[in-house]
Amino acid sequence: MFTTAIVPAAGTGSRFGSGTNKVFHLIGGRPILARVLEILEAAESVDEIIVVLRDADKAAATALIEKYDITKAGKTAKGGLTRQESVHNALRLIDNKDSAVMIHDAARPFLSQGLILSTLQSLDGCDGVVSAVPLKDTIKEVSGGFVVKTLRRDTLAAVATPQAFRYETLYGAYERAAAEGLNFTDDTSAVEHYGGKIRIIPGNYKNIKITTQEDIAFADYLLSEKRHAKE
Ligand code: CTP
Ligand code: MG
Repeated sequence: MFTTAIVPAAGTGSRFGSGTNKVFHLIGGRPILARVLEILEAAESVDEIIVVLRDADKAAATALIEKYDITKAGKTAKGGLTRQESVHNALRLIDNKDSAVMIHDAARPFLSQGLILSTLQSLDGCDGVVSAVPLKDTIKEVSGGFVVKTLRRDTLAAVATPQAFRYETLYGAYERAAAEGLNFTDDTSAVEHYGGKIRIIPGNYKNIKITTQEDIAFADYLLSEKRHAKE
């Protein structure tokens, strides 16, 4: 099936606090966004890439796409106020309605080829796929500074991107959500809300999202680990 990868990169990186969009931050000498796009460019099952960008970042991202020779990134979409709006804008640019879409955050540069493949191959028989890892911490529901209850850890999963859908399923969910004024923080939540069945597949603890400055130290460690593996 024709597959479009949507890469939301239109945030401001406020928690990262560098003053510019964190996806341009260099790790191991290359911008985070370039790393993500190189992985998707190399993925045989991905046919096109749509990067979602704020107007302020468009020139820098276009230069990056050229410099790193990302031939699949022919189109870019306009960033929205929320991540949901950003993904919705990208979905509007997809011509091939009979296709699969895979969403992957620009802020997760340790995506593996194996995870791309398993995400896309798991779409049969469900309405969406999300990768997840078991929680390491115990999670409590809290209110006003006190514990309400402790959630059972074995029933919880920490989800990440990539997430995959058939185009019509995700587009339909986002059209309805927009009409109803609902905002979801990840793509499967919207599909779930309208009754979709979402399959959970094993993710990877190394597929971190760069969110705060502390994440850079771990990212550098992961890169050095990769370099050693090649030696
Ligand atoms: N994103 C987006 N459009 C938005 C908000 C976020 O495309 N309106 C993208 C970000 O660029 C990022 C991904 O969604 O690649 C995940 O979001 P997050 O890690 O929260 O990034 P930011 O929103 O940039 O960071 P912060 O919340 O700290 O401001
Ligand atoms: Mg955010």
